[in-house]
Amino acid sequence: MLKVSKNPNYTGEVCELFSKDAAQATRAFHQQIEGYTPTPLVSLPNLAKQLGVKAILVKDESKRFGLNAFKVLGGSYALGRVLAEHLNMDISEIDLKTVASKLEKPLVFTTATAGNHGTGVAWAAREMAQKAVVYMPAGSPQASVDRIRGLGAECIVTDVNYDDTVRLANQTAEENGWMLVQDTAWEGYEQIPTWISQGYMTMADEAVEQAEAMEEGLPTHVLLQAGVGAMAGGVLGFLADRLGADNFNAIIGEPAAADCIYRSGLAGEMVNVTGSLSSIMAGLACGEPNPVTWPILRDCSHSFMSVEDKVAATGMRILGNPLKGDEAVISGESGAITMGMLYLLMTTEEGRAHAEMMGLGEDSVVMLFSTEGDTNPARYRRIVWEGEQAL
Ligand SMILES: Cc1ncc(COP(=O)(O)O)c(C=O)c1O
Repeated sequence: MLKVSKNPNYTGEVCELFSKDAAQATRAFHQQIEGYTPTPLVSLPNLAKQLGVKAILVKDESKRFGLNAFKVLGGSYALGRVLAEHLNMDISEIDLKTVASKLEKPLVFTTATAGNHGTGVAWAAREMAQKAVVYMPAGSPQASVDRIRGLGAECIVTDVNYDDTVRLANQTAEENGWMLVQDTAWEGYEQIPTWISQGYMTMADEAVEQAEAMEEGLPTHVLLQAGVGAMAGGVLGFLADRLGADNFNAIIGEPAAADCIYRSGLAGEMVNVTGSLSSIMAGLACGEPNPVTWPILRDCSHSFMSVEDKVAATGMRILGNPLKGDEAVISGESGAITMGMLYLLMTTEEGRAHAEMMGLGEDSVVMLFSTEGDTNPARYRRIVWEGEQAL
């Protein structure tokens, strides 16, 4: 159920693109968006006791701008940077509400998405009075399609997997002169994905600030989930610079069906996973690492994990049904994988051996990012109410 590998290529080297200084610019951009407020960092003291760690801190991204996921942080920052460049302005001069009046006509932004990124791009485009065309892979849930259309974007479901849908969006953008805002990179397409990952640093910056003000204090262990690794890389890059890479243990987790970062970690170079990439963790079902953030994951992660879907389902049930006195966190499949990982590491014989290797124990302050809420509400109920994907 759990595959765990220590990172043989750890160097602790930090990356300038994802420094604490770079995070200041992204946080300042997000702070001026109407309705901005840091999402809660929830402490679960009773669960920490139960699992044998000092503290568990969960960043609840279901509360992000009412969009039920963190992803808008990246899409909005990238749109802001694109518009700033287009208008020859500095990002600090971009005002979301008035930027459209400076353009002759709205730009068209396009992207491929498993759901959350496209929601963020559609929302940001609407906030800035621009247009968005969003492509989704075969089998995408109707709830996500409806959410994106409800934000005023065009949404097209393709008949291919996520990575092929990205290629299709790219091709359509080139043919129509649209601006591709993709949350992964490839050779020759790095600038926008870099801005997107920088946007995610706001979440980490808030979390560190919040932890510092809490008695639990700064994390000794940070568990991060990865699809292409754009979020994990941005957050880890920031934390490595802010806290010192050697001062905490970073553990990256993925679904077994799409564990490209796990395999890359073992190989020490980017490895793709192909096929249907089928997992309940829709946001993590990506088979090709993001080359912009891969070097950070290679240099600053301590361990990589590849886990079955039921691990994430277990995390959803734990977060949604807390011990008495702890707060509930509504966490979706891609959001809850790290809680499932922590639970298995601390409660199973197989897990404990790995936990020891990671130094996870009674002095550990564990930080998790519940990156989405119940973005697929029907499946959320099947898992949490009806017990689908039992351990
Ligand atoms: C909820 C959620 N968590 C995590 C991720 C992982 O992000 P990345 O693809 O940058 O690794 C995604 C990606 O869509 C997501 O939707």
